Amino acid sequence: MEKEKEALVEEIRRLKKERDAAIMAHYYTEGEIQDLADVVGDSLALARKATTLPNKFIVLCGVHFMGETAKILCPDKTVLVPDMEAGCSLADSCPADEFEAFVKAHPGHTVVSYVNTSAAVKALTDVVVTSSNAKEIVDALPKDEKIIFGPDRNLGNYINSQTGRDMLLWDGACHVHEQFSLKAIIDLKKQHPGAKLLVHPECKKAVTLLADKVGSTAALLDYARESDAKEFIVATESGILHKMRQLCPGKSFIPAPPEEAGCACNNCSYMKLNTLEKLRDCLRDLSPAIEVDPEIAAKAIRPIDRMLEMSK
Ligand code: 13P
Ligand code: SF4
Repeated sequence: MEKEKEALVEEIRRLKKERDAAIMAHYYTEGEIQDLADVVGDSLALARKATTLPNKFIVLCGVHFMGETAKILCPDKTVLVPDMEAGCSLADSCPADEFEAFVKAHPGHTVVSYVNTSAAVKALTDVVVTSSNAKEIVDALPKDEKIIFGPDRNLGNYINSQTGRDMLLWDGACHVHEQFSLKAIIDLKKQHPGAKLLVHPECKKAVTLLADKVGSTAALLDYARESDAKEFIVATESGILHKMRQLCPGKSFIPAPPEEAGCACNNCSYMKLNTLEKLRDCLRDLSPAIEVDPEIAAKAIRPIDRMLEMSK
């Protein structure tokens, strides 16, 4: 590591201790941030672990809805984020007022929302899910229950296919996961016949149908660790490759290419807004901090708690 970066990392470690802060990072953040973090995980693990941390401050290196979920679960803590602009195209594809109108237009439905939503959408929801517990939670709902699922049409379609349900889907998607090229993946599979294909359920159906494993970031990581295979094609955001390579020495991980050759579309530009400099600044300044309207938080906590109760 070059000298300047070393000094920055040291400064972050010192500030973290002085401030009594815990750093949490999602698998899609830069490797150097994951390596500094006290907790690295998928969306579900970050939500669960936030509630168990003894620290006064949490710095959530991920995207806005992850910080918001931590704040709703830990209202007495200050939840800092390195960059307030780190949003999520999937959450943005579901504005709360439009979702409310959709829910009202379909009375008698249970509302299941993916965690990649704003607090205002969660406040309209009966139970929140993540990609690691969506199947388990939907399976646990009574078979005759009519369900609205939002906002990701791809995850919704996948859960429908796995549970035999016919959930009514909101038409949203993630700009990163929709970009993977089926043709390029098929070509890669031909070039690497022994490679296992790992796919996040936010990808399009045609890609999930080819997968050896469909799962959350943590589930894909576990699969790679436990598999006897030596090569893996990875159809999710590129940040996960850091942890895969770290935890699976001797195995090789090939990022699945996006439709547009040469573009960096398998990078989530929002996740990449988390930098070491901004992490240092937010520990130093104790800002920016996530705030959630108390009325919305009081409603949004119920479906999040229900999720935590319903999943292992
Ligand atoms: P995970 O819950 O699998 O970590 O996914 C979060 C996410 O934003 C995927 O794009
Ligand atoms: Fe949102 Fe997609 Fe980025 Fe995940 S990868 S945080 S769904 S924009």
